[in-house]
Amino acid sequence: MEDYEGNSPKPCLILALETSCDETSASVIADGRIVLSNVISSQIPVHQKFGGVVPEIASRKHIENVIPVVDQALRAAKVSLSDITAIGVTHGPGLVGALLIGVSVAKALSFAKDIPLIGVNHLEGHIFANFLSHSELEPPFMALVVSGGHTSLVHVKGYNDFELLGQTRDDAAGEAFDKVARVMKLPYPGGPYIDSLAKTGNPDAVAFPRALTGRDNFEFSFSGLKSAVLNYLNSAAQRGEEVNNADVAASFQAAVVDVLVSKALQAASKCNVKQIVLAGGVAANSGLKLKLQQQCQQAGMSLFYPDLILCTDNAAMIACRAYYQYLSGHYADLHLNAIPSLKLGN
Ligand code: KG4
Ligand code: ZN
Repeated sequence: MEDYEGNSPKPCLILALETSCDETSASVIADGRIVLSNVISSQIPVHQKFGGVVPEIASRKHIENVIPVVDQALRAAKVSLSDITAIGVTHGPGLVGALLIGVSVAKALSFAKDIPLIGVNHLEGHIFANFLSHSELEPPFMALVVSGGHTSLVHVKGYNDFELLGQTRDDAAGEAFDKVARVMKLPYPGGPYIDSLAKTGNPDAVAFPRALTGRDNFEFSFSGLKSAVLNYLNSAAQRGEEVNNADVAASFQAAVVDVLVSKALQAASKCNVKQIVLAGGVAANSGLKLKLQQQCQQAGMSLFYPDLILCTDNAAMIACRAYYQYLSGHYADLHLNAIPSLKLGN
């Protein structure tokens, strides 16, 4: 976190809120890329015993947490509400009840302080997390968004110009990690546990399937892979055979990573861009970063990914996206609503 020491006498300060799933977060950033505070109150321990996010519980926890989190974000940034230039808030995609908490608070603050309100798309926020970690990064680039709810390839042509090349037909990459982890009796969310287990396993031990691998096919599918892992584990159990969990984790992760890396590189070269940007919770995966780095180097491309804390859900990335919408005058009014299946570019 930084103290603001910019040259301009009055910095553009964006306060943003993120409540789309199971993290209540508020952040203040200065002049688009300087993070003054990024407070994240995670509900993971609350949902862990259910093996996944329970939407109603998430909404209730957001209600309890949101005001203290906003308060803490302002105090940590050493600013008051009266210093804030504009308010950004995630208004989709996500859980409708959870989104509504952030949207309602942001609307109230915008109305009370008479400052612009900016509705932010959560996926665009994940992409923009990279601008906070890499001050030199500018569009155009190819973004691979891999989170618990989404797997998409997005050609980012400019700060407000996105083209969706393809997305998953079924499970998202993070969802596949979490479901496989659950069957392997690992805690929720399972992605980080599979990641660390995979480090000691053999990625070639089990030949799990890679789907939709045709050239220039930018759609993804992970449900077949998930079923293949489940079948492998069930068959072994029925035969009374012992399974090497590290080998299963490494082989599963290799199947996910192979598909993500090869499609990201193909998409970048098809769109003639030389920069690839990773975004979303699965961008924290060490196997994915390593393979993508190796392949980018071979192809003469540059790879960017956010600092670990900015990979999973946080409000600083929402504030960064809001800043560029603020610059282009893309404001919302008090009719702003939560849109659970909000599309990119909206
Ligand atoms: O972006 P995010 O915080 O929430 C959504 O917008 O969905 O992503 C959460 C997802 C979870 O599925 C989690 O298991 C996954 O990111 N994840 C990982 C890793 N860290 C988080 N998946 C694989 N490897 C990791 N190291
Ligand atoms: Zn997310």
